[in-house]
Amino acid sequence: MKYQLAVLGNPIAHSRSPEIHKKFAEQHRLEVSFDRILVPFNSFDNCASDFIQSGGKGFNVTAPCKQDAFRFSVTHSKAAELAQAVNTISTRDGVIHGDNTDGAGLKQDIIVNLGWTIEGKKILMLGAGGAASGVVGDLLASNPNSLHILNRTFNKAQAIERLHSDHRLTAITTLDMTYDLIINATSAAFNDERLDLPPSILCDSSCCYDLTYGRKVNETPFLIWSKGLGVTSVSDGLGMLVEQAAQAFEIWFGRNVLTAPVIESMRENGTTS
Ligand code: ATR
Repeated sequence: MKYQLAVLGNPIAHSRSPEIHKKFAEQHRLEVSFDRILVPFNSFDNCASDFIQSGGKGFNVTAPCKQDAFRFSVTHSKAAELAQAVNTISTRDGVIHGDNTDGAGLKQDIIVNLGWTIEGKKILMLGAGGAASGVVGDLLASNPNSLHILNRTFNKAQAIERLHSDHRLTAITTLDMTYDLIINATSAAFNDERLDLPPSILCDSSCCYDLTYGRKVNETPFLIWSKGLGVTSVSDGLGMLVEQAAQAFEIWFGRNVLTAPVIESMRENGTTS
């Protein structure tokens, strides 16, 4: 039996999800097709319904459709509720179920793959868009000392703060302390824009994680900036991409996959987004 999977978004041509899921499927000798579906403006529901009606088993959702996918889903996981966004859709007895595996993927990459600690740490999240809101719940569940969100548009950071109402989570407007872990969840680099950050937020033992990734390993503008200031623990988001996909695969097929060889081969093939 051949299972139909897909990723929906716009733009979508760059998506590496098909490559990742084909490697996972090979591990279990499952036959899958994995399409990239370009969603025209305001057409998410049509595209999603068409795919399911044509026999699709499930699909991933990427920017800018994750909120549309949340509305489209009839039932939601807790992670999706907290993010108000869905990146993985499955059907359960014919009912559309929305999940969000971004935060779990990030946690797995940070804690297991990189061996960094979240518990007890002071964390700074840069950005308060879809990428940031998708991971805040899972970060809080790992018991940080504090999680500060800084965003160019302050009220978006406040909205995330209100949604979680957790004393450790604060929307901030100024940077006046040093952080153990700084996560870049802005899309500044996509527009060739630079973040203007004070070096004082870093110390030698700070860890810097970028949810994005580029052509070369750990060479995003944010990571280049932090390495230039002496930070040695840095990571781009390729590991998170593979880990969130692994969680989605488990939702669709109920099977675990090995992620390390997939991350490695994707690095070898170049990380062009
Ligand atoms: P994504 O789904 O990738 O998170 P998004 O929801 O559009 O995309 O969010 C992008 C985030 O990057 C936002 O927090 C945005 O800040 P605003 O809310 O003020 O728009 C942030 N961002 C984008 N360009 C930026 C820049 N040049 N400097 C600082 N923040 C930037």
